[in-house]
Amino acid sequence: MKMPMMSKLMIGVWLLGLGLLVACDSSEPKPAVGGGPVPAEFQVGETTFNANCAACHGNQAVGTDHGPPFVNKIYEPNHHGDQAFQLAAANGVKAHHWEFGNMPKVEGVTPGDIDQIVKYVRWLQRQAGIQ
Ligand code: HEC
Repeated sequence: MKMPMMSKLMIGVWLLGLGLLVACDSSEPKPAVGGGPVPAEFQVGETTFNANCAACHGNQAVGTDHGPPFVNKIYEPNHHGDQAFQLAAANGVKAHHWEFGNMPKVEGVTPGDIDQIVKYVRWLQRQAGIQ
């Protein structure tokens, strides 16, 4: 009589634990491309990117019908250094790698904003193993 009572209790405790785990999971922030939430230090860049670049380059820089992904070997730091981002935003880009057409210059972003965007993009790239 004693043992079955005990194992029922154990199962109850186990189920409770499982329930708590599931509850915690659903409250986690949405994971980024490579898994894991965006670290605090890149969140300003993420917000600025989403407001000015994501319409073409996609959420989390995965690309859209209007622009290429930055999570791509082409844009690794050695091929497109941080300066390429400053120039792209300031002057626009003539289509050369893709068939999306030209990128117009982006009004209303400062070089400081672009610095933050680049930090965020480099982080996304590292998550995807591009560096
Ligand atoms: C209206 C769409 C659009 C917006 C908005 C946009 N881009 Fe682009 N961008 C493009 C397209 C299209 C290309 C690809 C041109 C090519 O190489 O064919 C591109 C290319 C680039 C490149 C590569 C430049 C190079 O030297 O090859 C960088 C860097 C870039 N964009 C940064 C940005 C940043 C930063 C923002 C936001 C501040 C932004 N873009 C907003 C469309 C856009």
